[in-house]
Amino acid sequence: MKIAVLAGGRSTERNVSFSSGYRITNALREKGHEATFIDLFLGYDLAGKAPVSAFDDANTSKDLKISDAILTDADINALRSDGSTELFGPNVLAICKEADIVFLALHGGDGENGKVQAVLDLNNIKYTGSSSTASGITMNKVYSKEIMLYHGIQTAAFIEYTRDQGATGHVLPFAYPVVVKPTSGGSSVGTHIVHDADELENSLNDVFRFDNSAIVEEFTPGREFSLGVVNGHAFPAIEIQVHDGWYDFEHKFQPGHTDFVTPPHDLDDDVHQEMKDVAVQTMKVLGMQNYGRIDFFANDGGVWVIEANNLPGMTPLSLLPQEAEAEGVAYPDLVESIVEGKLALYESGMNN
Ligand SMILES: Nc1ncnc2c1ncn2[C@@H]1O[C@H](COP(=O)(O)OP(=O)(O)O)[C@@H](O)[C@H]1O
Ligand SMILES: [Mg+2]
Repeated sequence: MKIAVLAGGRSTERNVSFSSGYRITNALREKGHEATFIDLFLGYDLAGKAPVSAFDDANTSKDLKISDAILTDADINALRSDGSTELFGPNVLAICKEADIVFLALHGGDGENGKVQAVLDLNNIKYTGSSSTASGITMNKVYSKEIMLYHGIQTAAFIEYTRDQGATGHVLPFAYPVVVKPTSGGSSVGTHIVHDADELENSLNDVFRFDNSAIVEEFTPGREFSLGVVNGHAFPAIEIQVHDGWYDFEHKFQPGHTDFVTPPHDLDDDVHQEMKDVAVQTMKVLGMQNYGRIDFFANDGGVWVIEANNLPGMTPLSLLPQEAEAEGVAYPDLVESIVEGKLALYESGMNN
């Protein structure tokens, strides 16, 4: 198959996406596919060649330097010499049209929020993962938690404050500590654990620097897990054991601060099964398809969904690939099964 692997883009998770995209490209090639890695933002300078030749361009197999640095808008703009800032770089759509399917290795922001998916839909281009609508809902923690609660899925109580309401004078409907996050964020960027009204004000001000909406949640104690679902099959949970503090940006991307255990030790079978069932149900009620990852807490009150991720990290060390490995599914097979699962949905007309 011809598969275009779309990575990069303009989100704060641009570099993490390169890491996923590069590994996905190699895995697909290992499985015998003609896979091309494309940077969504920089596109592909074909130097006079027809778009189709991008599929065998030697440049796509070169080793890419992977960095976890968070890039600003200005850093990303500086990557283009002509000063243009639109998301789709030269020839990206043309190359995607040549492919049998596009593997979305994008994370965060535009890429994960459904907008890229909508552009691909309108150009009759097939892609992996969830539809534009489900992606848009899932990227928004307020919308997705409202839908979960409507369907009886347990998730922490929350309240939303928008930037026009300001950061001061809010009286919370639940007790401190609380967790403050950007409503449409990711990678724990802008997430704060807050103990009093002063901290609440500071955290809201911080969130409003990059999101018009903040979600304030009741703090959920307990063990933290994440659970990947591919083509309706829930893989074993992975436990996230942070050495000190909580699962913030540093713990996510700097090695040595966190242990990941899959399958988890000392987890009651019933609780594990419940987490699998709730993960599958959460994907269903949010309209997610093909694959995704649901974050959980478990405590004496049962299992609590933290959030749903519609384009979860896909480096071999990311959570979902580790869970698959624990069940004997090698990384290249996992990647290929995602492609095949989504193509089957297109073939049966069940893609939404
Ligand atoms: N209600 C909560 N109670 C306690 N910790 C939380 C809560 N919500 C989030 N966290 C912590 O913050 C991390 C990031 O929150 P999450 O909602 O998953 O956002 P992101 O999209 O940034 O991953 C979680 O992995 C968890 O450790
Ligand atoms: Mg998360």
